[in-house]
Amino acid sequence: MRQVSPGCIPCVPQHNEPRRAAENSRQDSIVTSNPSLQVAIDALSLPGIIVGHRLISRGDENALWPEEIPAFTSSIDKVRRASGAARIVARQLLRRLGRPECALPRGSGGAPTWPRGITGSLAHDSSVAVAAVGMCSDMDGIGIDIEPAESLPTELLGLVATPRERLTIDNYDPYGGRLLFVAKEAVYKAVYPLDRTFLDHHDVEINFPDRKAITRNGRIIDLRFSIAAHIIALAFLRVLR
Ligand SMILES: CC(C)(COP(=O)(O)OP(=O)(O)OC[C@H]1O[C@@H](n2cnc3c(N)ncnc32)[C@H](O)[C@@H]1OP(=O)(O)O)[C@@H](O)C(=O)NCCC(=O)NCCS
Repeated sequence: MRQVSPGCIPCVPQHNEPRRAAENSRQDSIVTSNPSLQVAIDALSLPGIIVGHRLISRGDENALWPEEIPAFTSSIDKVRRASGAARIVARQLLRRLGRPECALPRGSGGAPTWPRGITGSLAHDSSVAVAAVGMCSDMDGIGIDIEPAESLPTELLGLVATPRERLTIDNYDPYGGRLLFVAKEAVYKAVYPLDRTFLDHHDVEINFPDRKAITRNGRIIDLRFSIAAHIIALAFLRVLR
């Protein structure tokens, strides 16, 4: 029986070729990427983090590996499809880092479990899945979130924005509130695996001009944004050297 240590699962590349072939053959017959979206996503990239996307496609639910399936047994197809798509992207990014493909099961609190030495994050909206991956030697934490580029309903703004943020949001920017929402979710995903603490929207404050966030417990997180047909936020904590 394989030994599984906390936060790290062994990778078994030799068993994955049929699965990868199935994923590739599906990709040959359907459009799974949007070049203009990838251009917007590439603008997020920075040394130490690679980011990819996939248009969520019928059949992506079959990309979940056996180790990943238990977390989704009660999920509807749409949810499993989005989570499968995000894991296809993440495994592609692992290959780009020269790592074998791995199962990326949900760990405690919902965060994905990455192989030893890797950190990253997954997200999906109704049509696109994204993943961001880096090495633990460069990044202490990574979080990504994506939402369609739509304005945030006014009644939600008060829930998401702190009083100070409300003063700084440009009322004429149709996406200001949504950007705030996406940034906070990305921050949560970046810090949760480190702190294991639930954060409310008001426990995170975003400073857009400085592209930084600060959490209730004083963590300072860097941010990058991409606004096109989708709003994407990338949050990260560099390893302090
Ligand atoms: C984690 C959370 C932000 C995800 O948001 P979502 O809109 O439901 O879903 P997204 O598509 O953006 O992201 C889903 C992915 O987030 C990741 N995720 C889930 N819980 C996570 C956690 N605690 N830490 C890090 N990543 C997590 C998973 O990889 C998940 O993908 P999967 O379902 O395929 O495994 C949300 O579910 C949550 O737990 N919110 C409570 C905390 C919060 O939002 N506070 C306000 C902001 S500070």
